[in-house]
Amino acid sequence: MSGKNVTEVRLADAEGIAEAARILESGGLVAVPTETVYGLAARADSAEAVAKIYTAKGRPDFNPLIVHVRGVEQARELAELPHQADVIADLVWPAPLTMVVPLRPGANLAPAVTAGLPTVALRSPNHPVMQALLAACPFPLAAPSANRSGFVSPTSAAHVLATLDGRIDLVLDDGRPCAEGLESTIVAIRTDGSWEELRPGPINLDALHQHYWDEPYPRAGRGERSRIEAPGQLASHYAPGKPLRLNAEWAEPDEFLIGFGAVEGDVTLSAGGNLDEAASRLYAALHEAARAPEPRIAVAPVPEKGVGRAINDRLRRAAA
Ligand code: TXA
Ligand code: MG
Repeated sequence: MSGKNVTEVRLADAEGIAEAARILESGGLVAVPTETVYGLAARADSAEAVAKIYTAKGRPDFNPLIVHVRGVEQARELAELPHQADVIADLVWPAPLTMVVPLRPGANLAPAVTAGLPTVALRSPNHPVMQALLAACPFPLAAPSANRSGFVSPTSAAHVLATLDGRIDLVLDDGRPCAEGLESTIVAIRTDGSWEELRPGPINLDALHQHYWDEPYPRAGRGERSRIEAPGQLASHYAPGKPLRLNAEWAEPDEFLIGFGAVEGDVTLSAGGNLDEAASRLYAALHEAARAPEPRIAVAPVPEKGVGRAINDRLRRAAA
């Protein structure tokens, strides 16, 4: 079914969620809203279903997927959670926080989910639709962002269709943009208690560690880095398909300007300079810039603090 037919779009109400669960059960692909971005879900225990994710996205098979779980109990079935990871899963989830932790030997996951790594990325999303779907499914859900590999991530059902129409079975439409608007923070938590930020995102890891353990998180030493960290983070990514100029105070005549604060653009991320608002609007602005007639994009400077670190991380990759 995936890859050949029309993609159905349904409101993410109880019937829509029930249909999504049936499609997933039979090994299909469903795009689902989360609080970060839309995810492209398949049952994580089926090699055939997981293979469809890689095909639909055109994703390289060395780039592992995030497994979405209801909460800490399902996480414990899949991973040997280091102490701090267990505490956080129990107290902080559901949240825009993904933890890379040791895979439990014998865990019922298709090998392609982890791309052969001894670790697994786990997240319990803070969104009623994804949580309802996980509750309706007796298996965990592998779900990368619901876009063709390398393109801008989707924060609306229309963004999903922009690159995956006809390649997946169903899109559950939440009817409103994803609240966070940026992918989850990814942290590797090691059994020795060290942490490593693999991708900045909505959750500030120092603040999180400070809250529970009264100090910033202990950084993993360079020598302890695993062979592949967050492979999807290495290449150019989030690309709108046009040259993108960073730290622009004004636009050249052939540029579509994405503004921030005092720099007013064709679209503006946040006129008041609010970084959370800017994060939630970033991908919609990049999608709009991609559709605009101007052949180039310029983006105003965004301060490198709070979620601004994650915004600038995505902008640098979009420009690469
Ligand atoms: O907010 C999000 O995290 C969204 C929503 C749908 O949950 N998902 C998302 O997935 O952004 P994706 O596939 O676009 O990014 C997942 C990242 C990739 O960079 C991948 O390399 C990394 O997680 N990753 C997955 N498993 C890993 C592992 N075992 N070790 C290191 N990195 C891993
Ligand atoms: Mg992605």
